[in-house]
Amino acid sequence: MCGIIGVVRKSGNAAEEVFQGLLRLEYRGYDSAGMSALDGGKICTVKRGGRVSNLMPEAERLKGSTAIGHTRWATHGEPNDTNAHPHCSGKFSVVHNGIIENYRQLKEELSDGGATFASDTDSEVIVKLIDFYYKGDALKAVARAAARLQGSFALGVLCADREGIIAVKYKSPAVVGFDGNGAVLCSDIPALPASVTSVCVPEDGDIAEITAETVTFYDSKLTPVNRVRRPIFPEQFTLGQGGYPHYMIKEIHEAERTVAETCGGFFRNVDVKRLTEYVRGADRIIITGCGTAYNAGLAAKSYFTEKCGVFCQVEIASELRYSPPKVTPATLVIAVTQSGETADTIEAVSALKRAGARVVAVTNCGYSQITRVAHLVVPVCAGAEVCVAATKSYIGQLAALYLMAKLTEDLFTAQEELTLAGAGIGELLKSEANAEEIARQCAKSSAVFFLGRGLDYAVAVEASLKLKEVSYVFSDGYPAGELKHGTLALIDENTLSVVVICNPALAEKCCNAVSQIISRRGKVAVITCLADVAEKLKASAAVWLLPQCSAVLSPFVSAVALQLVAYKTAVLLGRDPDKPRNLAKSVTVE
Ligand code: G6P
Repeated sequence: MCGIIGVVRKSGNAAEEVFQGLLRLEYRGYDSAGMSALDGGKICTVKRGGRVSNLMPEAERLKGSTAIGHTRWATHGEPNDTNAHPHCSGKFSVVHNGIIENYRQLKEELSDGGATFASDTDSEVIVKLIDFYYKGDALKAVARAAARLQGSFALGVLCADREGIIAVKYKSPAVVGFDGNGAVLCSDIPALPASVTSVCVPEDGDIAEITAETVTFYDSKLTPVNRVRRPIFPEQFTLGQGGYPHYMIKEIHEAERTVAETCGGFFRNVDVKRLTEYVRGADRIIITGCGTAYNAGLAAKSYFTEKCGVFCQVEIASELRYSPPKVTPATLVIAVTQSGETADTIEAVSALKRAGARVVAVTNCGYSQITRVAHLVVPVCAGAEVCVAATKSYIGQLAALYLMAKLTEDLFTAQEELTLAGAGIGELLKSEANAEEIARQCAKSSAVFFLGRGLDYAVAVEASLKLKEVSYVFSDGYPAGELKHGTLALIDENTLSVVVICNPALAEKCCNAVSQIISRRGKVAVITCLADVAEKLKASAAVWLLPQCSAVLSPFVSAVALQLVAYKTAVLLGRDPDKPRNLAKSVTVE
């Protein structure tokens, strides 16, 4: 949800680095982009609707040792040149990630004082406020303005009267990275330049004065505070597309490795003793998340119910936070979040923690906000995921959650099982012909329904989300048993139903659903690990027989198969699978 970056250099052109940083941050939003550079006491700004690349060739002319930049996911005001950040007023230029909830009231107040506004954004009030409070001390002006803001905000502020950047963090993510040539403010660690070797993660309310020589952190009252500087290590996964045409397909191909790395990370980094106490001591488990992370929770519900025999519920975080259930210290809340920054997930679990529950975060991003909320962290070791649609991180979440559920049984067999599941993914990815055939059908269908029972239902819901977000084909994920209670009314010869059948105990019932759809002239594709089901249905449906896999681990293989289908459908329809329209990877607004 908007990416911000700021670079302060002892030598070299900071503007060039900000442009490169914006390209790396584009997964956070790509509605418009802009940059300001400070050169010889003068701020020069370039901003444009559309992608970061639209800033060229003007961006090339920006020079200076200090620069800030922004890539936008529009919340207030349509994505055009005027609404693009930075917003400027007087001696200031500001980039903002977040939402200013009281912007109407502030705008009114500032307008009464004579201020004029050029954009429709909530963010413009920030720079106008700073300008209003400025009496020669930029730090004080920023602190006074920040104290008036309600909502969430990570800010990068340039002032023409001083070198360096002033940054503010409240609820929206921001980190400060260091290398030998100065400092970099950035929304996310993975988008920092490769030269950065250590980071400070500011606390909510912090204000940072960033120069090429030093970074000083203050609390909201401008009292200096100490923030620990921690080393960061180069990614085990390579950044860049690595020869693949899109990040999405590259990241699908990294799923097998993600399973192995997540197992390794679990044994290396998790406090297994404490986590076992949490899981064994739980009389109820609540899993929560948004989007794909929620869908991983849907699959994990079966794991916890079966392996731990404990009542487990899965809740969408944006709903859970407004109707929190009663919890006790024996309630285990599991927050699943790739980015660790999703505002609804953080708010929901923070409230349950305050009410006394134990919170475990399953996340791909160490140092993220959720790691500071949770009592314990279980890492998903997927490496940076750039494609907006989650693929390998979903598989990593399944692996982490499976290991947690097996804490009541035997971790050693869990590791062996996950190695097999990983090998199944590797085997599946050797041939993509079946995915292409189903993708061709998806691309020409008026709607695609994904159906399954039990774990296959959880996979169906995620497959539907994947298809709709990257291809824009209308789609729904449904429990196969519910077909006759509604969706059947929508079936005709223009629709495709993709039925996932990987559990032998439920196969017969799913085959009935296939017959019911075919009787209504609907097209059917079947995704199955079961050879007998494939044999039985191959005459009436397009059947993809997946590598053999136990029912409990089948989501690892069937979900990857359906990620491939979504990817190939998007490509066939000429969509950009890495940057679906209107979406962003990290949803830090509520
Ligand atoms: C966005 C992303 C999804 C992701 C969801 C939750 O919608 O596009 O891929 O599943 O946010 O994000 P989180 O970082 O909490 O997993």
